Amino acid sequence: MTLPSYAMNQATFPEMYERWLVAPLFQPWADMTLEEVRLSAGDRVLDIACGTGIVARVARKRLGETGYIVGIDVSSDMLAVARATAPDIDWREGNANALPLHNGEQFAVVACQQGLQFFSDKTVAAAQMRRALAPGGRLAVSTWRPDDEIPFFRALRGVAEHYLGPITDLRYSFGEAASLEALLRDAGFKDVRSRVLSRTMRFADGAPLLRMNTMALVGMSAAGKAMDDQQRKRVVDDIVSESGPVMELYADRSGIAFELSTNLATARA
Ligand SMILES: C[S@@+](CC[C@H](N)C(=O)[O-])C[C@H]1O[C@@H](n2cnc3c(N)ncnc32)[C@H](O)[C@@H]1O
Repeated sequence: MTLPSYAMNQATFPEMYERWLVAPLFQPWADMTLEEVRLSAGDRVLDIACGTGIVARVARKRLGETGYIVGIDVSSDMLAVARATAPDIDWREGNANALPLHNGEQFAVVACQQGLQFFSDKTVAAAQMRRALAPGGRLAVSTWRPDDEIPFFRALRGVAEHYLGPITDLRYSFGEAASLEALLRDAGFKDVRSRVLSRTMRFADGAPLLRMNTMALVGMSAAGKAMDDQQRKRVVDDIVSESGPVMELYADRSGIAFELSTNLATARA
């Protein structure tokens, strides 16, 4: 999920992300991604835009003490949660457009889960990924499909747009598989392939998801960017209550459930 800068500065937002979103929304895809790249004992793994570190942590669990894992993110607040959760992983603060790697450092596996869509220069970031991948190494990059294909998030954006005007949601802004594949081929990767994966997401409690999603939408809108913190908080509250009927549409006895889909591109060095 995009973390709007005003929310990122609140110490608790990355904790909320970890507490409410990671297990239901990000871990299932981390598991699928690491299946795809087939980890082997001793692998060095790089998780770019690691956030609170779910891909790195799943890799650590699968590799045990063998291998070496590095997670890089631009947000020190996200990394603080990552560090507290898994102190044995090498967490580094840095930008995907200029990866903080040691001289000639390379990895058998490079993964970037739902991060590429936020990078200001995707060509440079892809070149950085290519440089970080060791000969014969495996790359996996995922980006959500456009939200026009995800009725749940499209409907929530529709409610927010009543208050804020049109919103370009960065989270779903790089959803075309052909563009993702072309970016990786142009960066010099081989065997570039992508698949669309869909899955039902289940949340026992939809309220935190709705609030964080609304905060993200407000933070990404031109109107929200022009507001002060109090105005933003008020509009978040309004949108959250107006979104009730959408949430009801997706509610069942165990909470809420909706379909979500992503591109998963894989390639080799
Ligand atoms: C939706 S989160 C995904 C986090 C993690 N990969 C996961 O699956 O939970 C996107 C992450 O991208 C990070 N990010 C955005 N722009 C970045 C950049 N230029 N370089 C590194 N990280 C970046 C954000 O700080 C955020 O942690």
